[in-house]
Amino acid sequence: MNKTRPQYVLTFDTANEVVAIGVGVLDAASQSVDLIASREVEARRQSNTQLLPQINDLLRENNIDRTNIACVVCGRGPGSFTGVRIAMATAKGMASALEVPLWGVSSLDAVAWNNWACGVRGRLTVIADAMRKEVYPVRFDLDDQGVVRLDADTVIKADEYATTMDVSEYIAGDGLGKYADLFESRGSFVAEDLWTPTGQGLLLAFQEQWHQTGIDPLNRVAGNPALLLPTYTRLSDAEENERIRLSKNDPKNLTTGVQHEGIRHDQIPQEHDTAIANAREDESGIVYRPLDEAHVADVVHIEAALMGSSAWRDLMVREELPRKDRSWWTAFANDELVGYAGGMVCDGQLQILKVAVEPDYQRRGIAKELIARVAEDARGLGAQTASLEVRASNTGAQAFYKMIGLESVGTRPGYYSDGEDALIMQGPLPTATNDVAGMALQSHTYAYSQESKNATKPLILAIETSCDETAAAVVEGKGTLVSDVLASQIDFHARFGGVVPEIASRKHTEAICGVAEQALKQAAFGWKDLDAIAATYAPGLVGALVVGVAFSKAAAWALDIPYIQVNHLEGHIYANKTTTPDLEPPMVVSLVSGGHTMLVEVKDWGNYHIMGETLDDAVGEAFDKVAKALGLGYPGGPAISKHAQEGRANAIDFPRAMLHSGDLKFSLSGLKTAVITYINEQKNAGNDLNIPDIAASFQQAVIDVQVAKAKTALKQTSAKEFCLGGGVAANQELRRAYETMCEKAGVRLTLPPLSACTDNAGMIALVAHDRYKQEKFAPLNADAQAQANLEEPY
Ligand code: KG4
Ligand code: ZN
Repeated sequence: MNKTRPQYVLTFDTANEVVAIGVGVLDAASQSVDLIASREVEARRQSNTQLLPQINDLLRENNIDRTNIACVVCGRGPGSFTGVRIAMATAKGMASALEVPLWGVSSLDAVAWNNWACGVRGRLTVIADAMRKEVYPVRFDLDDQGVVRLDADTVIKADEYATTMDVSEYIAGDGLGKYADLFESRGSFVAEDLWTPTGQGLLLAFQEQWHQTGIDPLNRVAGNPALLLPTYTRLSDAEENERIRLSKNDPKNLTTGVQHEGIRHDQIPQEHDTAIANAREDESGIVYRPLDEAHVADVVHIEAALMGSSAWRDLMVREELPRKDRSWWTAFANDELVGYAGGMVCDGQLQILKVAVEPDYQRRGIAKELIARVAEDARGLGAQTASLEVRASNTGAQAFYKMIGLESVGTRPGYYSDGEDALIMQGPLPTATNDVAGMALQSHTYAYSQESKNATKPLILAIETSCDETAAAVVEGKGTLVSDVLASQIDFHARFGGVVPEIASRKHTEAICGVAEQALKQAAFGWKDLDAIAATYAPGLVGALVVGVAFSKAAAWALDIPYIQVNHLEGHIYANKTTTPDLEPPMVVSLVSGGHTMLVEVKDWGNYHIMGETLDDAVGEAFDKVAKALGLGYPGGPAISKHAQEGRANAIDFPRAMLHSGDLKFSLSGLKTAVITYINEQKNAGNDLNIPDIAASFQQAVIDVQVAKAKTALKQTSAKEFCLGGGVAANQELRRAYETMCEKAGVRLTLPPLSACTDNAGMIALVAHDRYKQEKFAPLNADAQAQANLEEPY
């Protein structure tokens, strides 16, 4: 390393309504970070458009070259979930592309340290707004030596905290904006500009962390950008609700419906509730459920029998239950509690507090499963690693913990009340798989892809995060894909019966570094080889899109190369090139996915006319809802088509909506309702449901309308090419129907492989390749959008 070059630390935070940025210089000898420049700007929900331009300006004004950034430090919250993720995704993209370490600091510590720098001394309570009438409070003591944090991160109702908190000399935090009345009498408010993080506060908090941990800020192993996660302090609402339901009810009594964010719950027959499925016995007759009050006594009973002097008593276990940083799971056999595990999340680490299984039930993998459940919750709360203490003499338990990936890292002498030493064991979160954030990585090669050794410039990395797949691909100069990888979150959403937006955003934040790195690795290129970076910017779930957009923009900025934004639907159209490289407009494309149903006339690449769309539900949505009504789980499309193979397509005469409407509009909610009504009628009449017949008849009703309208569209445009896009395009019966229709009509049909029908980044890369040639680049303030009109050029 060239010692004469200054080593800059770039830090930023967008956990609140303020974008805070700081630049400092590292001095390894004195372990200090000296502030050079900082800036705080009101963001008002615009952090994604503000952050990168402001960083760019600040560095330029101070003549700092981005290649001299030696590490990046990001505020981890707690704060607005999306706000924190914008800073985190930006930091991850930037640090990855610059190939420098990424560190996190608490946004609340940054507030406290900024107050310290501004001369505040004494007890300071920082109360940040947590929405839903809740706050994130932490107490600090500030003296001339520095800042000492007194509490772990937590979330609590604002009024409850106000009545129970100690009187504090000073109070800061953006929670005061909303709850000034509640906290007025609890301490004196510092000036309003000291309520949120600043560049100075972030750097001081980082410097303190350096002193405390002694870890070299330039250590790229410890500072791996993939490892950093936001501080959430609570699970998504959907997960919270599920936990409450699972723990409060016996599986047989689970009857009521539940509202999850982002999912419509009309007409879910009770026996198909996913929570019930979750609470069913596994193959060995064990049921896993979160610990509830009614079973505390059983836990205490086993504790007393197995744990000797370190057994927890009733109150200790009971006090765990309401805490949001805790997760406790239990195992039942024949309605009897036979095992449990509990843990707490602190500073990104799961501390496993308890694991116990009744002797008769040991050696059946129950402990491992219990820990995996606790670890899964912990991951949702931002944990990356796990640790625990175990008796030095308990070699059996130590062997078990080794098996789940923990290693001994030291001892605590005399830790137990009887004087025995504890061994400290640590390791990655012991979940079932330790790959990309618990997701399996898939990678695809197409006829159209080629080996990287023949690749030509420009090289473009494309990122897709619009829904529940985190995907990355690399395309080379001739427009062929050299890598295409994705991590699917489907397993994390399936139990809620649909995609839960908050979970999707969290998973993208966890997976994005690993997925992007994997795409580069498979292409055998490094970040510095890239000529542009592209991302899906619309349409989709904004909170999910924003992760890919912020990551990609920041990586492009770091490398000083263009950022390209791509419309997801245009990607689905381009996906057909993976099958038919010489595809040429004019053509008609049918886009059928979980969110869209439309016929598009492609006049030229980039020039689209929407000939007709659905007036209500999308086709994939109809498949999913009918599947749910039949108890077939999520996603419904594949399940329905599988059952349909055994059924008669003409068994039930379901309506073909709009078949003769004379236009190219679709309507699917009537069909969905007709199927559900039919199911209910059959049930009420005491008849067994013929699932194959229902599935086949429903599927046929969909196909008849789809094919008829596609035929009309081809006639109207005289196009000689017909293509498909979107998840429903994977439906075999639909594909066969199009083969017949296109053959008769003398039209060339392109059917992309299943992997190119569902969401992927390869298709985004193919669009980006064209955009690059046209020099259509997006500015640093480009954002994500839920909606975008495919007809409007962008
Ligand atoms: O394009 P996609 O992966 O994601 C969205 O952008 O929505 O499409 C997912 C949709 C789901 O609704 C799923 O049920 C449906 O595609 N799907 C199918 C089949 N495979 C997936 N629908 C019918 N038949 C299939 N074989
Ligand atoms: Zn899609």
